[in-house]
Amino acid sequence: GVGPTGCPVSARAAEFDPFEDGYQQDPPEYVRWAREQEPIFYSPRLGYWVVTRYEAIKAIFRDNITFSPSIALEKITPTGPEANAVLEQYGYAMNRTLVNEDEPAHMPRRRILMEPFTPEHLKHHEPMVRRLAREYVDRFIDDGRADLVDQMLWEVPLTVALHFLGVPEEDMDTLRRYSIAHTVNTWGRPRPEEQVAVAHAVGNFWQYAGKVLEKMRQAPDQPGWMRYGIRKQKEHPDVVTDSYLHSMMMAGIVAAHETTANATANAIKLLLQHPDAWREICEDPGLIPSAVEECLRHNGSVAAWRRLVTRDTRIEGMDVPAGSKLLIVTSSANHDERHFADADFFDIRRENASDHLTFGYGSHQCMGKNLARMEMQIFLQELTRRLPHMRLADQRFTYVPNTSFRGPEHLWVEWDPAQNPERRNA
Ligand code: HEM
Repeated sequence: GVGPTGCPVSARAAEFDPFEDGYQQDPPEYVRWAREQEPIFYSPRLGYWVVTRYEAIKAIFRDNITFSPSIALEKITPTGPEANAVLEQYGYAMNRTLVNEDEPAHMPRRRILMEPFTPEHLKHHEPMVRRLAREYVDRFIDDGRADLVDQMLWEVPLTVALHFLGVPEEDMDTLRRYSIAHTVNTWGRPRPEEQVAVAHAVGNFWQYAGKVLEKMRQAPDQPGWMRYGIRKQKEHPDVVTDSYLHSMMMAGIVAAHETTANATANAIKLLLQHPDAWREICEDPGLIPSAVEECLRHNGSVAAWRRLVTRDTRIEGMDVPAGSKLLIVTSSANHDERHFADADFFDIRRENASDHLTFGYGSHQCMGKNLARMEMQIFLQELTRRLPHMRLADQRFTYVPNTSFRGPEHLWVEWDPAQNPERRNA
């Protein structure tokens, strides 16, 4: 193959395909060769430059002018005319939110909307998260077997996301279908015959988001981040625009929900694959916050992110022209030996685990990171306390093929209910 600058592309670069099972199963392992030998390469299949080392990726995040986030949510596989017509029919007009907004628009909006994410405000959500976690565990604790994704980890972060945003709780099953479609629509490679069905789901999701927003405008003093935005719009209509609010009403659900559901499923899988670590957090729950950080580093739920190069530049000694698209493989950065000693080793006491790039870095770094951490910690507190004897069932893990959002579709665990601590203590 030949790259955009006319240079030949190495055989491995030519083969790189993030929709393949190899990438889905273990992204940092799949690009190990690149991290070691070819830290930036052009992928002719994807049309992106792929960056795999920690320092380079951090530098890219740090400079959001040269490396614009505008393509962060762009469809990685452009849809055909039929799917586009369907989207149009729903009036689909997803626009910039925060994560893909350029300066100078981004920073003032981020500042105005930040307060609900501060620890002081997040504290108010903690009892709700714990109550939900307990209710869901109650439902399966006597069964001896559960798919934690289907029976807990998908729905609880969705409900938490809806509460945080201030959305009414109804229509959850519909939303679940819509948000999956949104992931495939944005980060996946749907076959032509799937594209139309995906477009209908995305169109419905968009219209639903609009209706919910209208409902919220009727009662703007109620709680939730979206109504906070609606109130701020009155003071700063040019910063918190209608287009922003409608787009965030849809994108915010996905941002808060799937990332956290996947991160927790990845974390529990990883901990149960390392029974010593699991036993340690069962015996000393004080280790849970650092275990969560190491799980986010070792096996986070965002595998890669995107940036658009706005001026000719150099990355890892390579000339990269303006207009190039970058796939920055944050999961690979998190396994870079240059930053993390013995990087593949899973160590819940690792001192620099929180240097991971799973939440991004710099001016766009995830605003919801502390909400996500709180949820993950509470889920682990509840599960280690009530099901310390749980283990992974035999299974093959499957992933929705896409470049960025990553977590097992199912996570089967099993245990002997006769050994449940709350029975033994009864
Ligand atoms: C941005 C990951 C949970 C809201 C981001 C970015 C990543 C990310 C990679 C882009 C960062 C960058 O460009 O530097 C994650 C992961 C999560 C998670 C892995 C869970 C484990 C949440 C939650 C919310 C949220 C619970 C709550 C609403 C946001 C927002 C932004 C963002 C609003 C845009 C910030 C900006 O551009 O200024 N997140 N996220 N995220 N995330 Fe999260």
